[in-house]
Amino acid sequence: QASQRIRNFSIIAHIDHGKSTLADRLIEYTGALTKREMEAQVLDSMDLERERGITIKLQAVRLSYQAQDGEVYELNLIDTPGHVDFTYEVSRSLAACEGALLVVDSVQGIEAQTLANVYLALENNLELISVINKIDLPSAEPERVKQEIEDVIGLDASEAILASAKTGIGIEEILERIVTMVPPPQGDDEAPLKALIFDSKFDAYKGAISYVRIVEGRVAKGTRMQMMSTGKSFEVTEVGVFAPSMRIVDELKAGQVGFIAASIKNVKDTQVGDTITDADKPASEALPGYRKATPMVFCGLYTVEASDYNKLRDSLEKLHLNDASLIFEPETSIALGFGFRCGFLGLLHMEIIQERLEREYDLNLITTAPSVIYKVNTVHGEVLSIDNPSNLPKVDQIVSIEEPIVKATILVPSEYVGAIMELNQEKRGAYCNMDYVSTSRVRLIYELPLSEIVFDYFDQLKSRTKGYASLDYELSGYKETDLVKIDILLNGEMVDALSFIVHRAKSYNRGRKLVEKLRGIIPRHMFEIPIQSVIGSRVIARETVNAMRKDVLSKCYGGDISRKRKLLEKQKAGKKRMKQVGNVEIPQDAFMAVLQIE
Ligand code: GTP
Repeated sequence: QASQRIRNFSIIAHIDHGKSTLADRLIEYTGALTKREMEAQVLDSMDLERERGITIKLQAVRLSYQAQDGEVYELNLIDTPGHVDFTYEVSRSLAACEGALLVVDSVQGIEAQTLANVYLALENNLELISVINKIDLPSAEPERVKQEIEDVIGLDASEAILASAKTGIGIEEILERIVTMVPPPQGDDEAPLKALIFDSKFDAYKGAISYVRIVEGRVAKGTRMQMMSTGKSFEVTEVGVFAPSMRIVDELKAGQVGFIAASIKNVKDTQVGDTITDADKPASEALPGYRKATPMVFCGLYTVEASDYNKLRDSLEKLHLNDASLIFEPETSIALGFGFRCGFLGLLHMEIIQERLEREYDLNLITTAPSVIYKVNTVHGEVLSIDNPSNLPKVDQIVSIEEPIVKATILVPSEYVGAIMELNQEKRGAYCNMDYVSTSRVRLIYELPLSEIVFDYFDQLKSRTKGYASLDYELSGYKETDLVKIDILLNGEMVDALSFIVHRAKSYNRGRKLVEKLRGIIPRHMFEIPIQSVIGSRVIARETVNAMRKDVLSKCYGGDISRKRKLLEKQKAGKKRMKQVGNVEIPQDAFMAVLQIE
């Protein structure tokens, strides 16, 4: 049977351990692309991804490999995003495979995302092949890393492949191992269709395209396909494979990986994790594990120029076409005017979207500090979900507030354990567990409020451990907490976009630090500007921006007109990222200041 010669696998690794480089080498070695055709890092195709060197969107590629046994195998490599924001997508793409290469950097050793991804792979019953990468580096310690793999993950690492994705060492061995170790897909071609969507993408001509693994049955042009989560059906217009660019084929069947197009107008109808079946011969139940991606972090996006509002809406709609996990709805701020409240999977997702809006869509944005979703129990017995601090009901309307809690796993060299414990203490963390993953490295498990992770946690973690700590987290639930809202008054007027929610015990400190910080950020005006932090109607801190009369032209002695113009232009540019609120100009930095006040 043909499917005996198919192998579906992914590569799992911590960020920067060499996943994309290894994928490139495998593609190159199997000749799916010649070296000249291959732009550096084919799998990471978005510009931004390449610049940041992280994989965001997963994709797939089919490799054709003639193994030492003389047979030609179809190897489908499914790429996975490497970042904590995209865990669900990782888990779905792993579900499309029978095996995975576990890539560990021979200098760094096992990191938090290595572990997180290994757990996901084990949940999906994947055969794991250990690859110790970067052995070309003089500081490589493959033996230590092998020991870590055995101790922490419990895999036999004696067979681990020593490789260098950079120089090509070990590449053939990896391909052979995939053929011999990863089981061929099982699944009946004749059973009702079940195809797992592990990614989707919007194409202007073909509509929303589903990237699928056919688990059972077959699909071809003309099949009436049906989404099992919604019951919606569409007529298939094309099926194909990634070789590595999209190539149309007659049919996809059990075991294969490819794409399905059906002139679907919205990527919302092709959600990752959903099962596609045949409307005329439907499967009785969907594949396990489907859930909607839920945004966890929210912020307000406003344009500096009010006239750009429609452009911002259009741009968000375009981004949403390809990314159903980005959500947005109109929001009005007294201070900032008309904008959008946007929801993201996590902080990185948020930063990526903001950057794309600015770069690809050429928008000049004011973004407010990110917030999590609070659950507020009111005196009327309602439970409100509040994703914008300024919408928090008045104190006398609130019975209690619950905040999201995450379970965080931190891996760190043992000398930094004290530093991490101190940080987690400051961040209201609850210690759960600690163990040694090797003689010199420790795994710490904590429960932490998500809002504290949003507030500057990554930067603190990195700076307090000289960059040696790695972090992974997952939402674990909601917990009642004593929280209060702090509002900021500028020149006596409340700026709603600066309000934030904080634990009562920290409120005084944060309120005071924020006004101090704002004093340095708000430029001097012709008049004095008092900055106040208030809780309810009680002022907890106050600073003042002194008045100043700044006449930039006075330096020009009235003479040179071109110099005058230059200065005026310079001043205009300096104003760009400012928003006029009442009679005070507030720079973008002010809205993010709350994140940098530890
Ligand atoms: P994400 O896409 O963020 O998940 O990262 P990644 O795991 O794909 O890492 P990537 O392939 O981008 O490699 C990270 C860095 O390590 C790059 O600078 C690579 O050039 C380098 N690198 C990868 N493999 C090797 C190797 O075998 N030896 C050496 N010396 N460097 C390597």
